[in-house]
Amino acid sequence: MVSHINPILLEGNDHGVQQAAYALRDGKLVAFPTETVYGLGANAFNLRAVSRIYEVKGRPSFNPLILHVTDFSAAERLGYFNLYARSLASTFWPGPLTLVLPCRKGTRISSSATAGLGTIAIRIPSHPLARRFLELTGVPVAAPSANRSGRISSTRVQHVSSAFVSGIDVILDGGPASIGLESTIVSCDAGGVTLLRPGGLIREEIEHCLGIPISTVPVSLLPCAPGQLSSHYAPRAVLRLNATHVVPGEALLTFGSAPVAESSCAGSCLNLSPSGDLKEAASNLFDFLHFLDKEVVSAIAVVPIPSSGLGETINDRLRRAAAPR
Ligand code: TXA
Ligand code: MG
Repeated sequence: MVSHINPILLEGNDHGVQQAAYALRDGKLVAFPTETVYGLGANAFNLRAVSRIYEVKGRPSFNPLILHVTDFSAAERLGYFNLYARSLASTFWPGPLTLVLPCRKGTRISSSATAGLGTIAIRIPSHPLARRFLELTGVPVAAPSANRSGRISSTRVQHVSSAFVSGIDVILDGGPASIGLESTIVSCDAGGVTLLRPGGLIREEIEHCLGIPISTVPVSLLPCAPGQLSSHYAPRAVLRLNATHVVPGEALLTFGSAPVAESSCAGSCLNLSPSGDLKEAASNLFDFLHFLDKEVVSAIAVVPIPSSGLGETINDRLRRAAAPR
């Protein structure tokens, strides 16, 4: 049953992080900061706690979770690393990369965390508070992004507390997420290296590290990652992408310094990065969508965003946010 008690908000200091880690070990649901987005964590060995994540998020039980650990040896206890996986892990961990690997037998990870698949998604975050939290829990932490299923991910503690007024136990405050977009998900197995979700680590860096181009699975063919499916990250208002003008009643999400026709008609106008910096745009995207979600607008007009580097991820999230529900 979902709890109706408000979550406890803990400050991101020594005492707060210890309380949060004890609560998680004890089977509680704890939202915690990472450099990408806030996660909603449960002790991955505790079936009841992991099941509550699905319940409280309204997440389909066949959509597996990412396992968060502190170091490579903990990661190696969960999955089989081939040479590509090893090389990505040693270059980019800790950081915004999730590896999907063949799952080791006998891990004691609750089968609902992996949705009973033969693979497992593993990540080592770099956020200092996340690292301290994971160290103190001493267990793998199963955590999806801390938002209701299909809604915009949380990059600030306020997003978490408004998404979960009740139903979760603790929120650990780590300030705004520095990257602001979820991790990049790469699968490494006998079938090769595949980009399952673009994210905070850009494709170019992965390809440079491996010395090979990586393939992308068309969304329609993704086997068991419904989080990747079209409508996701959805604000209430409709998004109109690649807009070159504003229609009366719309809000405007812009980028760079180029003027947008009829922008004076816009109810609200937010610029993801006036200087045209994709990193800045990434860190503002979800925060601005959360803000515009509260405005009464018919639609959000979004100007074209370049597609290289982090632009690939930003455009991916915008397309899904704009997809028919
Ligand atoms: O940055 C992030 O990745 C954040 C922070 C909290 O770590 N987490 C996050 O989790 O974005 P979530 O649950 O919102 O997205 C994880 C995605 C889901 O789309 C899920 O389907 C996919 O990872 N996934 C998990 N296990 C998988 C597996 N074995 N094979 C393929 N996809 C998997
Ligand atoms: Mg998510």
